Amino acid sequence: MSGHDVKTAKIVVLKDNEAIASHMAHWLLEQALAKKDGPFVIALSGGSTPKRLFELMAEPGIADRFPWDKTQIFYGDERYVPIDDPSNNFAMSRRALLSHVPVPDANVHPMPTSGEPDADAARYQKELEAVYGDKVLHPGKPLFDVVMLGMGPDGHTASLFPRQPVLNERTLWVSTCTPDNAPHTRLTLTYPAIHSSRHVVFMLAGDGKAEMLARVRKGDDTTLPSTQITTLGDLTFLVDEAAAKGL
Ligand code: 6PG
Repeated sequence: MSGHDVKTAKIVVLKDNEAIASHMAHWLLEQALAKKDGPFVIALSGGSTPKRLFELMAEPGIADRFPWDKTQIFYGDERYVPIDDPSNNFAMSRRALLSHVPVPDANVHPMPTSGEPDADAARYQKELEAVYGDKVLHPGKPLFDVVMLGMGPDGHTASLFPRQPVLNERTLWVSTCTPDNAPHTRLTLTYPAIHSSRHVVFMLAGDGKAEMLARVRKGDDTTLPSTQITTLGDLTFLVDEAAAKGL
């Protein structure tokens, strides 16, 4: 059983990004098929790493077996840009995956980016509450089955960036963040929302992740947002050999 925080998390090291994408695609299929009590609820990560995973999920062998009608797709974070902006995380997932599979539109929940950030964050929380069936998170009832996370060179994850007030949010499930070291205001899941999950998986590929992964894994530098990630269930680092170099 994996641990619930970065120091006790399981580490799975595979050859390269293709290998971690393939492993994750098959593992997500297995988890989705095994979920019997209610929908399979996942929060997709943003950035570039998950693109290959999304492409593999759209291919025969996964796409034709995935229970799309009982899957609810949320996002871990979103850059507050229009949907047709190349930086928009939802748009990348739609190009790579969603436009190729029969997932009902009602099951896909892009983070809204067309109004005012705080109001859109509150709107997104309402969508999560509707699927969860309550307005408060219960320790024995995870909000998500799976939360996928990436990690930036500054130790950020989702859009939980260093030095930002959102790191102190312990009640809201969704909030806003305007990093001082990256473009765009963002919407992001907060620590309590990410914590309320059966499985949290960091997917990290490439030697650019090695130094920060090693620092986060030590778990003692609380200024690194990824260090504060915990889960009700289990936490796994799914990494390639290049990212694992510093471990
Ligand atoms: C975002 C992401 C962010 C991402 C990391 C890693 O919207 O920027 O959610 O947390 O996962 O920055 O990004 P790469 O996968 O591109 O390295």
